[in-house]
Amino acid sequence: MKKLHIKTYGCQMNAYDSAKMADLLAPLGYAATDAAEDADMVILNTCHIREKAAEKVYSELGKLRTLKNRKAQDGNRMWLAVAGCVAQAEGEEIVRRQPAVDLVVGPQSYHRLPEMIARAEREQGRALETDFPALEKFDSIPAPRGSGVSAFLTVQEGCDKFCTFCVVPYTRGAEHSRAPDAVLAEARTLVAKGAREIVLLGQNVNAYEGGGWNMAKLCAALAGIEGLARIRYTTSHPRDMDDDLIAAHRDNPKLMPYLHLPVQSGSDAMLEAMNRQHKADDYRRLVERIRAARPDIAMTSDFIVGFPGESDADFEATLQLVRDVGYATAFSFKYSRRPGTPASTLRKQIPEDVKAARLDALQKLLLSQQYDFDDSRIGQVLPVLFERAARQDGQVMGRTPYLQPVHVTAQGALLGTVADVRIERRTANSLHGVLA
Ligand code: SAH
Ligand code: SF4
Ligand code: F3S
Repeated sequence: MKKLHIKTYGCQMNAYDSAKMADLLAPLGYAATDAAEDADMVILNTCHIREKAAEKVYSELGKLRTLKNRKAQDGNRMWLAVAGCVAQAEGEEIVRRQPAVDLVVGPQSYHRLPEMIARAEREQGRALETDFPALEKFDSIPAPRGSGVSAFLTVQEGCDKFCTFCVVPYTRGAEHSRAPDAVLAEARTLVAKGAREIVLLGQNVNAYEGGGWNMAKLCAALAGIEGLARIRYTTSHPRDMDDDLIAAHRDNPKLMPYLHLPVQSGSDAMLEAMNRQHKADDYRRLVERIRAARPDIAMTSDFIVGFPGESDADFEATLQLVRDVGYATAFSFKYSRRPGTPASTLRKQIPEDVKAARLDALQKLLLSQQYDFDDSRIGQVLPVLFERAARQDGQVMGRTPYLQPVHVTAQGALLGTVADVRIERRTANSLHGVLA
């Protein structure tokens, strides 16, 4: 048996892809290991979204080269592969900066890993694949071998939106939706292997249009799968939030009351410069319509502070939008200049200290909203889907419909079931409760 270690950076789609790579390599005799030291192959599944994420890869590769050399002295070959969005964006450059790398494979071509390995072995060299092949990647990937209680399922990939700050349209390619029958077949397999919740993934998941179906119709069909308790989807773009999907949040009982709907900024000038294709008030009205359909829905978002040209007033508009909407939780980032994107060449770049101060102010506001949201559940009885044993002995971790983690003292037999929990208190990162 050979051992495979995959280290995953970035978004949930990378986590999904990592699982698929493991499925693809299993027939070659590779079994997963948590320790890079034991591995015959190490894959870094990388993220290019911000500079820090991309640079981390090179420092990690440096460490792995040392490990690889040490193993070579003992007569063992360790394969070193770079997958994901850095592989796509930087290709040959990776091998130039770190010659110990054997394989470079982009997010749209990793189904070719087995033949790449064979080729590299034959030619005693390395292999590189970063094209966007016409053959659908998903057609060449085996069915999932196993599943956790909550499972990711990619239904849409790529992006045609071209926000001026973002690398994703270049690393993941054009928007593409999988056929509904393929999605449903994969969902049924996941449920048969133990999934009780499926999280549908896409860079613009609510732009799903496989076989002429929209997201609402896909969720309705998924809701028909016996044994599947919960459906979630992420990430959505405000422009693609259609009436059917809003209505589904009222009508589909398996669709969870949680929506990640990134807005990035509350300033119309910034939204325009970012090419988000809507105004701040469009977003406010959209949230109102969503809440009219599903009043208790937990709203979340992504924000970027310090986009080129962002004034104090622009930033204040973002804070105001956050106050107006009220988020259950949210992610916020300092703008990071990405090579090849239109915003990277804008002249009015914002100094680092201004970005840091704005991020700090925004995160304080978002955290206080998160605590308010969590505290408002104390005393309520909520259905919790139990996902895994908690680090603390005798406890299990589950999630509320609003995706809040909850710790409960209970038997492991609860795993994979939904049970009512009375929420009693909140700590910094989690709710705590008792079985009701
Ligand atoms: N498709 C999703 C987001 C994908 S990237 C959407 O359209 O919302 C995830 C998040 O990373 C983005 O929402 C954005 O907030 C952040 N991000 C993307 N590019 C960035 C950059 N250059 N600098 C800082 N944050 C960035
Ligand atoms: Fe990036 Fe914008 Fe596409 Fe999201 S919608 S992936 S932020 S370009
Ligand atoms: Fe990162 Fe690529 Fe996801 S850049 S956020 S891993 S789509």
